[in-house]
Amino acid sequence: MNFQKKNSRNLCKFNCPENFQHLAVIMDGNGRWAKNKGWPRYFGHFRGVKALRQMVKSCSRLGIPYLTVFAFSTENWKRSSTEVSVIMKLMRRALTRYKEELNRDQIRLHVLGNLGELSPSVKNIFNEMREQTKNNQGLQLIVAVNYGGKREIIEAVKILSEKLTTGKIKTEDINEDSFSKYLSSSAFPPPDMIIRTGAVSRISNFYLWSAAYSEIYVSSLLWPDFNEEELIKALKFYSQTQRRFGGVFNKNTSERE
Ligand code: FPP
Repeated sequence: MNFQKKNSRNLCKFNCPENFQHLAVIMDGNGRWAKNKGWPRYFGHFRGVKALRQMVKSCSRLGIPYLTVFAFSTENWKRSSTEVSVIMKLMRRALTRYKEELNRDQIRLHVLGNLGELSPSVKNIFNEMREQTKNNQGLQLIVAVNYGGKREIIEAVKILSEKLTTGKIKTEDINEDSFSKYLSSSAFPPPDMIIRTGAVSRISNFYLWSAAYSEIYVSSLLWPDFNEEELIKALKFYSQTQRRFGGVFNKNTSERE
């Protein structure tokens, strides 16, 4: 599946790395950003939405085909009910407010995670936006909400077990390719790079399966301060890495052996 606009890569000053398909972002540091300014944590989330809007615009302009943002993890329910409710409200408000912008910029919204456990108003706006943007061919924006990598794997195992029990597949048919088809993220290519902001270098239950060979870029900026300059820095870092996928890099041909 290739949703990319044909010539979008030619529009940008900075050339997005060749064959770069999917950027995933762990937007960390909202609380610290607000605390540093002596403000309540929710202010950081508020500014985090602004940074996200800029990020979406930048990725769209740079011709990056897929962007996943980790908006709310299965573990984030452990936060105070006030903070959870602020994050939910901000997501609902942002989707409502930027509805037209998403369509104008040909951005298609996908959701990764379980919407069933969210309040009806938040669930509905996600579903509505999914439906309203489904024909858009530009940036494929995947919002990971109520998502956990472990849960994604467990859900895949459940589907697989059911198929084994009913004889629809055989044990010998299970391999990496066939298993990955049961993951809820199977429609998206694996992330080429994961950016985590806030100077923390943990994967935090994000894309556990498909991040097996993702490059990791840790930014010292807190998420509300993240900007296009830092994004380009991360993409340049990516361009300089030699992705070997477990193989050996041949210096003479610049290819994997
Ligand atoms: C992590 O910072 C941030 C979050 C858990 C929430 C991020 C969500 C948004 C920015 C809203 C996204 C909106 C849409 C529409 C997708 P933190 O609070 O863990 O920061 P800390 O490490 O400083 O405490």
